[in-house]
Amino acid sequence: MLVTGAGGQLGHALLEAFPSARGLTRAEWDVTQPPPPGLAADLVLHTAAWTDVDGAEDDPQGAAAVNVGGVQHAASLGVPLVVWSTDYVFDGAKREPYVESDAASPLGAYGRTKLHGEAAAGETAWVVRSSWLFGPTSRNFVRTMLRLGAERDEVAVVDDQRGSPTYVGDIAEATEQILTLPYGVYHVAAAGDCTWAEFAEAIFDEAGLPTRVRRITTAEFGARAPRPAYSVLRSEKGAPELPHWRDGLRRCLDRLL
Ligand SMILES: NC(=O)c1ccc[n+]([C@@H]2O[C@H](COP(=O)([O-])OP(=O)(O)OC[C@H]3O[C@@H](n4cnc5c(N)ncnc54)[C@H](OP(=O)(O)O)[C@@H]3O)[C@@H](O)[C@H]2O)c1
Repeated sequence: MLVTGAGGQLGHALLEAFPSARGLTRAEWDVTQPPPPGLAADLVLHTAAWTDVDGAEDDPQGAAAVNVGGVQHAASLGVPLVVWSTDYVFDGAKREPYVESDAASPLGAYGRTKLHGEAAAGETAWVVRSSWLFGPTSRNFVRTMLRLGAERDEVAVVDDQRGSPTYVGDIAEATEQILTLPYGVYHVAAAGDCTWAEFAEAIFDEAGLPTRVRRITTAEFGARAPRPAYSVLRSEKGAPELPHWRDGLRRCLDRLL
């Protein structure tokens, strides 16, 4: 079993869940290039991705080289793949959970490249859409809030985007079950939902930090990339159900603090 993107947060979690898997960092295989000669596997867990949502607006071709070209190169190994995708393939106009049969309509370059990457995975692939990933390693919202919370009395956080923050350890644990399902697209995200501001309040609460959260709008925050206002994912196809996001948050903080 090969894990690409082994330096990322999901890559780390998968290598913990599958200790016999071989992890490849970007230095070992830049997935914008064909696989290194002689690389062989029975299964590829393909987590390598361009995940800088705002940066993808500035360099959509660079993002596509990783998120589409990288999937094509992983598929060229000719073995089954698990490819992770995102809630950002949806535009957020719906106000109840998105299921697998809902039409994708990405708002930004990142979501567009991930959607094209889904198509590039081929017929022998599980495409696992998840949302708002966090874990004890790499760059993510939980680690950013802990850093800001230690520096400031108050943090301004967006309160008009709603999703399901998902602990990478829970996705990694669910992967074995996903492999028992037919190939196809699955929604696998934590139970429950919240806004980024509610998530930040939970992080400070669970971490015992007195930091206040000032609720702001997406427009006030002013990020370069548009993001869906609502992107809760649920499965209509029997994908594994994950624990509640707050439960995942507690287990993540147990490791971080
Ligand atoms: N993060 C989220 O909130 C989120 C939400 C939904 C879905 N997803 C999807 O879940 C998957 C895993 O994301 P993650 O959160 O684990 O992201 P991550 O922590 O940013 O990890 C991605 C990894 O891919 C590597 N990478 C980037 N370009 C590469 C290249 N050209 N060749 C090889 N490796 C490359 C990165 O290396 P460097 O560290 O060197 O850049 C990084 O180690 C991705 O498919 C992502 O789109 C993420």
